[in-house]
Amino acid sequence: MSADRPSSVTKAVIPAAGLGTRFLPATKATPKEMLPVVDKPAIQYVVEEAERAGLDNVLIVTGRNKYALEDHFDHQWELEQALEAKGDQNRLERVRESAAMKVHFVRQGQPRGLGHAVLVARQHVGDDPFAVLLGDDLIDARDHLLEEMVRVREERGGSVIALMEVPEEQVHLYGCAAVASRDGDVVEVTGLVEKPDPADAPSNLAVIGRYVLDPSVFDVLERTEPGRGNEIQLTDALQQLAASGGAGGGVHGVVFRGRRYDTGDRLDYLKAVVRLGVEHPELGKGFGEWVDEFAAERAAGQ
Ligand code: UTP
Repeated sequence: MSADRPSSVTKAVIPAAGLGTRFLPATKATPKEMLPVVDKPAIQYVVEEAERAGLDNVLIVTGRNKYALEDHFDHQWELEQALEAKGDQNRLERVRESAAMKVHFVRQGQPRGLGHAVLVARQHVGDDPFAVLLGDDLIDARDHLLEEMVRVREERGGSVIALMEVPEEQVHLYGCAAVASRDGDVVEVTGLVEKPDPADAPSNLAVIGRYVLDPSVFDVLERTEPGRGNEIQLTDALQQLAASGGAGGGVHGVVFRGRRYDTGDRLDYLKAVVRLGVEHPELGKGFGEWVDEFAAERAAGQ
């Protein structure tokens, strides 16, 4: 690693101020990041992932109707006292787990897009490289995507995005990358398009919700006009960094082949609950047996 590069990434920004319209009406009064995946809200998995990758300075970007997020990462004294009085040590520990996580909050004001949500973290992040983890996007704990992205940043500088191969008919749902060269699962990104028509998509490599960004992205975001959906798009700012011939260290991609769930999407949410449910240390056995019986019933047309 060269001396002029920061040695490590320690800050994580988790944007969680979106409206969650794909999951209405469940998300009318409950933030989508608080929807339970088995027995924990989605956002807790995301904060745990940041901590596992050594990012111990976590900032969550929230907005209106998102108080539940702040409450979840705080103590709930009445509940803790009640559990203590009952001698329910197991649940007490589980309730205290999220309160012990060191999390900061900032509000976005208006949901003006993911790029804008990242921009409101500027003051907190300062001049350091930082990770962005979307608050509704879960990466399986056995897959070490973020660690790999931090490693690529340390080796090559610049910004690093996570990419996943998707079927052609799904590219219009994602930001999509044009890539030049490959070195195993690491690619050089030359361009990005937000939610392209399949005919215009430069590849089937979709941008998923993990980024390790160079702080130069903030200056670009300040100048980025609202794009698709009239929102300030992070993809548009990264497109500028990718296209500007190495400014800000360029943009690299890590192709991810593991398990990922977009819990802001109803179908993916259901898959996440079933997958993590059958793997749950306490519930997995009983739930897995039921899932098998249910699948057999369906196969038999009952
Ligand atoms: P999404 O596009 O998945 O969030 O943004 P959304 O706008 O809430 O979703 P739908 O389409 O209406 O269902 C990706 C991430 O960026 C955050 C979201 O909370 C989510 O984690 N986000 C999005 C913000 O923090 N602010 C915004 O203005 C937009």
